[in-house]
Amino acid sequence: MILQVDELGKMHSGKQEQVLFAHVSATIEEPTRICMIGASGQGKSTLLRIIGFMDREDQGQVLLQGKDRSKWVPREWRKQASYVAQQPVMLAGTIEDNLRVVSTLHQSVFDEKLAKRLMERAGLTEMAWSKPASDLSGGEKQRLALVRSMLLRPAILLLDEVTSSLDMHSKQLIEMMLMDWHEEEETTLIWVTHDMDQARQCSSRLWFLAEGTILEDVSTVDFFEEPRTQPGRKFLGIQSVRERKWSGEGINYV
Ligand SMILES: Nc1ncnc2c1ncn2[C@@H]1O[C@H](COP(=O)(O)OP(=O)(O)OP(=O)(O)O)[C@@H](O)[C@H]1O
Ligand SMILES: [Mg+2]
Repeated sequence: MILQVDELGKMHSGKQEQVLFAHVSATIEEPTRICMIGASGQGKSTLLRIIGFMDREDQGQVLLQGKDRSKWVPREWRKQASYVAQQPVMLAGTIEDNLRVVSTLHQSVFDEKLAKRLMERAGLTEMAWSKPASDLSGGEKQRLALVRSMLLRPAILLLDEVTSSLDMHSKQLIEMMLMDWHEEEETTLIWVTHDMDQARQCSSRLWFLAEGTILEDVSTVDFFEEPRTQPGRKFLGIQSVRERKWSGEGINYV
């Protein structure tokens, strides 16, 4: 058992007494690549942050490797389920300081070879590690933050739109890097994205967040073939044959 999310609920921070999401349940038994999609403001980042122990649930519980939060030291949990933010925070100091910080924090040995390999795969080969991290572009910071999390070798990577600031080439590099990493390390990916091509290519399972819950938890192939729910179809801009019939579009009545 990798992760179990059980009847999770969260109240909206901005709108009083309003539920952001509720009854969110899902189980991940073995290493999987999941993409989480859904309209803006549905709570994808919040759910990801709760799973990463960066935020707390209001209802329900999360079990990591079969154990609930009370059985974990938060730092250990965050090492196993590492959240990679869309707008990552860089530590003051150099790129190398940022790469080393995870091993310092978790009292483990800095794996320089792995750091070099990952920086290379992320398209950051040429980068001088002595450069201040604050000098990096948004897309470079995004990739550095991803490498920083991967150096922890977490069981789960919680990816929050990690390619949103990248050009096409860098985006493809990151997609390949993560797919390979999943194969090599058996890392589970829970990947929030607004990029439907990315969801299609990079995941085998799909969580569609709508109407305040995971409305669909299905195989990616099935979802893109035809979502089971009307909001799912609407999200993809698809009308089912039945709906087309009702609206009288696209059907030739003879
Ligand atoms: N910690 C929190 N607890 C409760 N509600 C929050 C919290 N953080 C943000 N919110 C509110 O919940 C809503 C959803 O935020 P969230 O960032 O999770 O959405 P999202 O699905 O990731 O959206 P986007 O696709 O735009 O990134 C926002 O309106 C926000 O104000
Ligand atoms: Mg978000």
